[in-house]
Amino acid sequence: EDTTARRKDAHLDLCAKGEVEPVENSTLLEHVHLVHCAMPEMAVEDVDLSTPFLGKRLRYPLLVTGMTGGTERAGAVNRDLALLAERHGLAFGVGSQRAMAEDAARAVTFQVRQVAPTVALLGNIGMYQAVGLGVDGVRRLMDAIGADGIALHLNAGQELTQPEGDRDFRGGYEVVRALVGALGERLLVKETGCGIGPEVARRLVELGVRNLDVSGLGGTSWVRVEQLRASGVQAKVGAEFSAWGIPTAAAVATVRAAVGAQVRLVGSGGIRTGLEVAKVLALGADLAGMALPLFRAQQEGGVEGAERALEVILTGLRHALVLTGSRSCAELRRRPRVVGGVLKDWMAAL
Ligand code: FNR
Repeated sequence: EDTTARRKDAHLDLCAKGEVEPVENSTLLEHVHLVHCAMPEMAVEDVDLSTPFLGKRLRYPLLVTGMTGGTERAGAVNRDLALLAERHGLAFGVGSQRAMAEDAARAVTFQVRQVAPTVALLGNIGMYQAVGLGVDGVRRLMDAIGADGIALHLNAGQELTQPEGDRDFRGGYEVVRALVGALGERLLVKETGCGIGPEVARRLVELGVRNLDVSGLGGTSWVRVEQLRASGVQAKVGAEFSAWGIPTAAAVATVRAAVGAQVRLVGSGGIRTGLEVAKVLALGADLAGMALPLFRAQQEGGVEGAERALEVILTGLRHALVLTGSRSCAELRRRPRVVGGVLKDWMAAL
């Protein structure tokens, strides 16, 4: 096994069992309160959450964000969760395709079209791998799995904590400019748990990026994952930065205010319940994104286990819509909400 694939399986083990969501970290969604409507004057079946994404129409505004690929175990995760996304009308992303860029034999572990022929599908590659691959290399990764778009992931915090990680983060906007030119609205730029703030979002949108996934602080911490693998100085500093990032609620609210309605905004990072999905939608996200909880449910119970977890989330989301008297995401966004605590400070400062 090459080092990329071996590292990926070590990551899966840590995420399946380890403490990769530090309890002190918060999305700050607890400071968002949706307001109860005692007389909703609607039926549950009136709720219509369908949403356009990547040229397709989702039944629910939910993206299973990119996690894995490259090993047999990772291939099973991809197929199980893509099947679930196909069944329920969610969008699905594979994890970093670096492993298949390095070894074409691994491509099969990223292939999900047999089980998910119509799902809105995202490929995935790191910003600094994209530099090496070039525009054509990135496009080939997307086309090789029949994806509708590709996610470019940002992970400076993870790289710095990883002993073998990148140390030079120059030239990113140039890469984005080239990729936007080639891929247009098929490009999505995402973080991996430290959040995209309004300043970076504005620059990306000025370059033509039309899909952003904030992936904020409050859920899986990749600094923590790498800290658990590191030793010495890297481990100590990794511990110090395990709570580094822009909380998801702050990222969604401030990025939406910065970029306007033409950008498809995914709110992710620590989203665990249907009510939390409703809260990020109310703050301005078009979709919510989720990684770790569905991965863990799949590891524990396969497709059925993940489906049971998803059913709880989708039911909670529908209840949130009914109890705020909202038939759609657009109506939910127009309802009153209370924002308090330190989230208010974040929103004022950014
Ligand atoms: C991830 N994530 C991720 N992101 C990415 O762009 N490429 C990748 O290869 C991976 N790999 C990966 C593996 C596993 C096991 C997890 C749990 C996560 C990050 C993921 O897409 C998401 O941005 C963060 O995990 C935050 O969401 P959650 O996990 O808090 O819901």
